[in-house]
Amino acid sequence: MGKRISFFDTTLRDGEQSPGCSMNKREKLLLAKQLERLGVDVIEAGFAAASPGDFESVQIIANEIKDSTVAVLARTVKGDIEKAWEAVKGAAKPRIHTFIATSDIHMKYKLKMEAEEVINKAEEMVKYAASLCPEVEFSAEDATRSSTDFLAKIFDKVIMAGAKIINIPDTVGYTTPKEFYDFIMEIRSKSKYLDTVQISVHCHNDLGLGVANTIAAAEAGATQFECTINGIGERAGNAALEELVMIMNVRRDIYGYEFNIDTKEIMNTSNLLTSITGIGVQPNKAIVGANAFAHESGIHQHGVLSNRETYEIMTPESIGLNENKMILGKHSGRHAFKDRVQSLGFELNEEEIENAFTEFKLLADQKKQIFDNDIEAIITKKISDKDNRYRLNRFVINSGNTITTTASVVLNIDEKDIEGISFAGGPVDAAFRAIEQCFDMDIVLEDYSLQSITEGADALGYATVKLRYDGEIYSGRGISINVVEASINAYIDAINKIDIIRKEG
Ligand code: KIV
Ligand code: ZN
Repeated sequence: MGKRISFFDTTLRDGEQSPGCSMNKREKLLLAKQLERLGVDVIEAGFAAASPGDFESVQIIANEIKDSTVAVLARTVKGDIEKAWEAVKGAAKPRIHTFIATSDIHMKYKLKMEAEEVINKAEEMVKYAASLCPEVEFSAEDATRSSTDFLAKIFDKVIMAGAKIINIPDTVGYTTPKEFYDFIMEIRSKSKYLDTVQISVHCHNDLGLGVANTIAAAEAGATQFECTINGIGERAGNAALEELVMIMNVRRDIYGYEFNIDTKEIMNTSNLLTSITGIGVQPNKAIVGANAFAHESGIHQHGVLSNRETYEIMTPESIGLNENKMILGKHSGRHAFKDRVQSLGFELNEEEIENAFTEFKLLADQKKQIFDNDIEAIITKKISDKDNRYRLNRFVINSGNTITTTASVVLNIDEKDIEGISFAGGPVDAAFRAIEQCFDMDIVLEDYSLQSITEGADALGYATVKLRYDGEIYSGRGISINVVEASINAYIDAINKIDIIRKEG
């Protein structure tokens, strides 16, 4: 077998740390199953010691996922490692991923520890983790601002203590490709044991170099890429999985690595994440952006019509983009619907299929053509709606250009109907104010957007609302053919997110 790259996906851990990307347990499991289908080698399911909710999500994912390794993050702290192991031990292939910072600035100001203490702590905790779990990964946080002598020393110690994967993160997205290449080569030359284990990299995107730095690291011998779907993650995010995969796929002529990703699942995975978080990608985003395969200028269109390869270095089909997206209509039956749902990668039980089919029929009555994106939106919404405490019962909006808008919104909260009434500028504003009257929470509306999911005047409206509550951002999404209803649903969805995520702890 030739050289092989392992894809380590951290969408559920580093990705979830992006503002507005919090997911509840059900959503995390749904995404984890899709990541397994995509073929990622490792799913980092969370940081078990962060909260009881994170612990439980890791545990649920660990118990369900069979093909991918399930990793759990832990500081080099005994309590963290114990919780990590407790959460991940049910996995078919468990991994504890433990980290400590190694740069002078982090050691002095954050850890308040001397360099020798950091080495001893790392060694001791890796040994402890390895006594519990068959696979331990060690990360030197802020590695790219650390000394190579120090890194070589700490890596040798933790490898001797049992670490099988050594991760070299560019935590603050500071390095550049050539510098990162030289940096890794230098550590390799100074370390006695680094070449006996797998080298991993984890590149943040603060200077827009996350993907380029990861590729440079591969040239320096790294064979595990840590990355996220759509590049989400702390601050400017992490290296985007779909970009790394397609670089390795399209430029096999240069790199020649084997890997386990099914590229045809890329689009499904990206869309699923967008539907769960309500955070989409910019239209010109490489690989998964709406314009990634669109040809606008006449010269380009002419070229593509004569031969696609004039302007396309990869086909839309290779990432699972189906050109013929129109698939079902109001005459489609349960069987065709179920088939389509399965081919989109969803595993639903009979009751879930039945609920989604009812929703599909309602939509098909209002909309001529139902596209894949419509079906994905219906299903992800249905799955994550299950535990909701707040539901929309009914609303009436009276609006026009010569009258004051009035809104009445009736929410069902804990089986009781509560009505909010408001008079405000526009229909959406009025509806939001009416919703706010239904409960007593100190919420600030941070952002609101509305898009259509597919083409045509009868397209489903897809609304996203971001609410700030207690210092955190929660996003909600709503879909409906009626854009005011989509907006109301998005607001209520965000309130439910606050409720569920806080209950999960
Ligand atoms: O960015 C970083 O350094 C991390 C580590 C915990 C791997 O996310
Ligand atoms: Zn990170």
